[in-house]
Amino acid sequence: MQNNERDTDKEIRSLLSVINILLLVIGVLVVAVIAMPFIVYKSNQAEKAGQQIPAGSDLKKDTTTYWAAPDINSITDIKLKKQVEYGKELVAHTSKYLGPNGSVLKMSNGMNCQNCHLQAGTVVYGNNYGSVASLYPKFRARSGAVETIYKRVNDCFERSLNGKELDTTGNEMKAIKAYIDFVGSNVPKGKKAAGSGFKDLAYLDRAADPGKGQLVFTAKCQSCHQPNGGGVLNIDKTEFTYPPLWGNSSFNDGAGLYRISNFAKYVKYNMPQGTIHTSPQLSDEEAWDVAAFVLSQQRPHIDVPKDWPDRSMKPIDHPFGPYADAFSEKQHKYGPFKPLLEEQKKKAATTK
Ligand code: HEC
Ligand code: HEC
Repeated sequence: MQNNERDTDKEIRSLLSVINILLLVIGVLVVAVIAMPFIVYKSNQAEKAGQQIPAGSDLKKDTTTYWAAPDINSITDIKLKKQVEYGKELVAHTSKYLGPNGSVLKMSNGMNCQNCHLQAGTVVYGNNYGSVASLYPKFRARSGAVETIYKRVNDCFERSLNGKELDTTGNEMKAIKAYIDFVGSNVPKGKKAAGSGFKDLAYLDRAADPGKGQLVFTAKCQSCHQPNGGGVLNIDKTEFTYPPLWGNSSFNDGAGLYRISNFAKYVKYNMPQGTIHTSPQLSDEEAWDVAAFVLSQQRPHIDVPKDWPDRSMKPIDHPFGPYADAFSEKQHKYGPFKPLLEEQKKKAATTK
């Protein structure tokens, strides 16, 4: 009798454990069935995100090893390290020191160098300083002369920051120069760092269209740069949280960004904020059109009659005549650029 009871006990226990396993399996299945639609939905979303690659982007794997700035903490000379750090601070927060309410001097428009030279001039294709120390002094056709780093920095002060020249013997200029030299110190003299300056952008077959560009601006830029293009100052008004794209506080019409190709390249690979060159968010057309829209708005003017002493060296998108060819100022400003390029090639071939 006792034996029999033990047997049924065992049977009941093993039956219970089988039921337990079954319940577990059923439970897992139920959870899986409930989760299924979510999993499918998620993977669809991921696919959709993957499809949003703008037309004209390069799908080939990029195997380039890009330049990266050295680490300031690697500087052992304490005096030099301090100077380089001050230079970096001036590039990152120029306005705090040298803007309209600058603590050192009031001599520029409130923009920071790093508004255009991203992360203090260290971002790949973010207009970085990688090739400055290695390639300057160099001949520049805009001035028709060999330029030092000082001259180049002051060009940006006078045009991009619509301000005055900075004294080349003062602490601020010395610090900016020391910083730029340090940033490019890992690039051999005479060589160009991979990913410095702007990334190339194909020309359109048509002229860039300010009307279409306005639609791009409204949809993708004005939330930060504001409908009037004037940007947003920070709370204590020492610098811009979102810098201006036109108007009195913006770069003037002698600045590098006033050339549509520079503007389009900068924006294509760096805007909206957070964009990196490997995953642009604008199509080529959107980049050119929004550039045309922004560059057709009001901004400060600078007289630079000595620019481009040799007309034939003017870039094809320099928006002011006189030119070495017969195309209009309008076509030099907005395109279409392919006919201009062809003319330039023909000329170059005949002078060879
Ligand atoms: C509004 C945008 C803008 C701002 C602000 C600006 N720059 Fe520039 N900078 C440019 C552009 C665009 C170029 C390239 C122009 C060209 O090649 O035609 C450039 C070029 C340079 C170069 C030469 C880079 C090279 O590889 O040849 C240096 C150096 C430089 N800037 C320093 C500065 C400093 C320092 C400041 C702040 C005082 C500053 N820039 C502010 C737009 C800007
Ligand atoms: C999410 C906010 C945001 C959006 C959206 C955005 N930007 Fe910017 N933009 C910035 C910030 C911030 C900077 C300055 C970067 C820095 O200092 O690090 C900047 C800098 C710039 C500059 C160089 C500095 C200047 O003021 O001239 C240009 C040109 C520019 N943006 C154009 C555009 C265009 C065109 C669009 C739309 C396609 C756009 N941005 C969308 C935040 C934004």
